[in-house]
Amino acid sequence: MKNKAVIIISSLLVFSSFSCAPTGKGVTNENSIALASDVVFETDNDVSESDVDTLKTQCESSPSTSTQKESSLSESSIPESSIPDVSAQEISVTDASLVNSQAGSSIQNSSSAAPNTSRSDISTPETTMQEGSRTEISKQESSEAETSKKESSKSETSQQESSGNETSRQESSEAETSVQESSNTFSPEISSELAVPIIKSSKSKVNQIDISWNAVDGADGYIVHYSTAKSLAPKKCRIIETANTRVTLKDLKVNSKYYYHVCAFKKAESGQIVSSDWSKKCSEQLKSIYVVDGVTYIDGILIANKTYSLPMDFGDGLDPEAYDAFKCMARAAANDGIYLYIISDFRSYWTQSYTYNSFVYDRGVEQADRCSARPGHSEHQTGLAIDVNTTSDYFDGTPEAIWLAENCVKYGFIIRYPKGKESVTGYKYEPWHIRYLGAQKASEIASSGLTIEEYYGITSFYS
Ligand code: DAL
Ligand code: ZN
Repeated sequence: MKNKAVIIISSLLVFSSFSCAPTGKGVTNENSIALASDVVFETDNDVSESDVDTLKTQCESSPSTSTQKESSLSESSIPESSIPDVSAQEISVTDASLVNSQAGSSIQNSSSAAPNTSRSDISTPETTMQEGSRTEISKQESSEAETSKKESSKSETSQQESSGNETSRQESSEAETSVQESSNTFSPEISSELAVPIIKSSKSKVNQIDISWNAVDGADGYIVHYSTAKSLAPKKCRIIETANTRVTLKDLKVNSKYYYHVCAFKKAESGQIVSSDWSKKCSEQLKSIYVVDGVTYIDGILIANKTYSLPMDFGDGLDPEAYDAFKCMARAAANDGIYLYIISDFRSYWTQSYTYNSFVYDRGVEQADRCSARPGHSEHQTGLAIDVNTTSDYFDGTPEAIWLAENCVKYGFIIRYPKGKESVTGYKYEPWHIRYLGAQKASEIASSGLTIEEYYGITSFYS
């Protein structure tokens, strides 16, 4: 079935390259375009009005449905020496409120019976590391083990501190969730009165998983066990206690598969903690993240933002598939009476350096960083980003901008820096800047309503 899909996608690629062939014009020439605004634009490619006219006759079919070429990067093709230097800290900051919460201690104190978790799941723990990630993962494991040691000792301290402080525990909403490392002592009586929670949804990112389940009548809270070990054996699990019906498992080992299950609990009148049975065991493969020759790929997508940089010599022009897709889109727009053209696409490290420094000269570093990437951090250097028509704020709300926002995803593009997401993407709203992802990924990400950073749980800031 998988092979069949690959054949179909390959066929579509071949078909689309015939039906909407690139002209190859202007792929390598370096141009500098000055517009009416105070911005200097550099581009290594351009599309003239006559190019767009040509497109009207060239693009007869629908756009390519393939994902971008980077998507075909297979894990087995990545050399072991190129394992990502992506630490958990780099991707996501630990939520201190999830660790060492006093709430977890109260459950432990109440437990009396021997652990009875994973009653039906006892089997050999399964290693979920992927071939190419061995070195990095084992590094992470040892650091995780240390963290775990530190955290469990902190946890003991916090447990002592928390006894007799029940009121303040309840008042703190942060204390509603806790994580304990390798100290599974949750062992209540099983109550048939409590229904078993049913996992409703789970979404994986690069190093975290969001899970939700249904509310159980009479429950005071829920316990989540999770681990890379399929058995979910108590000693191998991390534990979260929460009063909510959703939780985010954080700081997970990248490129790993996680197993988890949930149970509901309540405090009986006797003070004894009783729980439901465990929910069905679920699993989620985290979205892959790899660094190959200094370039980061997440889920097969090349990432360039303030956090993830590109080598100086990376990039040699607009990606041909992105260019084809743009031409098809411009053709469709022209049929609707909308004129779309490329104002800037590939920009080399050095061109970007000139662009960025022009902004700094005009506006200072702080303002420049809101609208121009520092050299080595621009999506334009990937050859997968295009500025359409203008980079003036006046573009917002024009028929062209509206058409672009409504239709670009069909051609494999997303509006990369949407309105109101500066704190996430690192850049002000740019209605003209589109990023090519291929139709499938563009559709997935656009329909989530999230930016690339949010979708994959990554950051965008200069370190
Ligand atoms: N204007 C975008 C952020 C860039 O310079 O890449
Ligand atoms: Zn741009």
